[in-house]
Amino acid sequence: MSEADDKKAEIDRALSALCESFPARFLGAETEQALRDENAKILGKKGELSAILKELGRVAPEARKAIGEAANAVKAKVEAGFEARLRELAMRKRDAELNARPFDLTLPARVPLPRGHRHPISIVREELVQIFRSMGFAVFDGPDIDTEENNFGKLGYPPDHPATDMQDTFYTDKGHLLRSHTSNIQIRAMSTMKPPFAFIAPGTVFRRDDDMTHSPMFHQLEAFLVDEHVTLAHLRGVLSEFAARLFGDGTPVRLRPSYFPFVEPGAEVDLGCPFCKDEKTGKRLGCGVCKHTGFIEIMGCGMIHPTVFEACGIDPEKYSGFALGLGLERTAMVRYGIPNLRMMFENDPRFLSQF
Ligand code: PHE
Repeated sequence: MSEADDKKAEIDRALSALCESFPARFLGAETEQALRDENAKILGKKGELSAILKELGRVAPEARKAIGEAANAVKAKVEAGFEARLRELAMRKRDAELNARPFDLTLPARVPLPRGHRHPISIVREELVQIFRSMGFAVFDGPDIDTEENNFGKLGYPPDHPATDMQDTFYTDKGHLLRSHTSNIQIRAMSTMKPPFAFIAPGTVFRRDDDMTHSPMFHQLEAFLVDEHVTLAHLRGVLSEFAARLFGDGTPVRLRPSYFPFVEPGAEVDLGCPFCKDEKTGKRLGCGVCKHTGFIEIMGCGMIHPTVFEACGIDPEKYSGFALGLGLERTAMVRYGIPNLRMMFENDPRFLSQF
């Protein structure tokens, strides 16, 4: 036999050896990756089949075609074997998943999930609303953007009056602004309802201030009552009751004369400081929260000005009433001893989780 014939016989043997051995090798691969590796060893560029065919040049030319065909047949068989085993492994994986212990999506999470709760401003608002509702006040709602007339004009602020400086606010367009207080609700209620009535209006308000104790966006609660023969004594009574429910029985109330264009007389209201009360004597000893005065300033109030009634079409000869307005942030700060107003808007969980 010639050398070329030897080569041919050698290649034939190698091809049939490969053909016989590959099924067992594929079967031995237990994972998709192992199978792909095995397949690459056989059919890859530097794989076993290429290595065998490298010798083709040394075979007699007339025999090459037959070897080529045989090699292609082997290749086709290997490829088919590879695909079959691939499908088999995929099926096995799927069966294993289907037969494994099922996931129970209804099981509770392992870590107890932290629960949120109401924001301190919401807590205070609900408490104040509760106090006033139990005294017979109903809630009257209104928009954050209102007319300059409802926010200033009808409340007795002359155009460009210096009193508006204190509440200089954000104008959306000519004649409209982000309300600078909840007193706009007095106008809205009085222009549409006939007395007697008693309303509260909690809501968001806006001003230009921005420091430790002022924020450009904050919250107020307005309360007002209109009827025949309402006097300052009624206001005093409501304030005393309010102080008692917020800070405890017997909490003293102090009125200091003050100016608001929509009330006459007008006053700032101070309540006895709840933090430095001596339980035996009931005296306020003075502390950091009340700046050692024994009193905390909490709201503005007064008897509704006749011009406000007139602007709303209510007869000031027949009716009278009082109004008060307090800040929710301020109330929360006093209540919880919060030193910086901004903490309430930063949404830091370390702060919020304390309520
Ligand atoms: N609207 C006033 C303010 O924001 C508060 C106030 C309300 C005063 C009602 C008197 C009566 O400063």
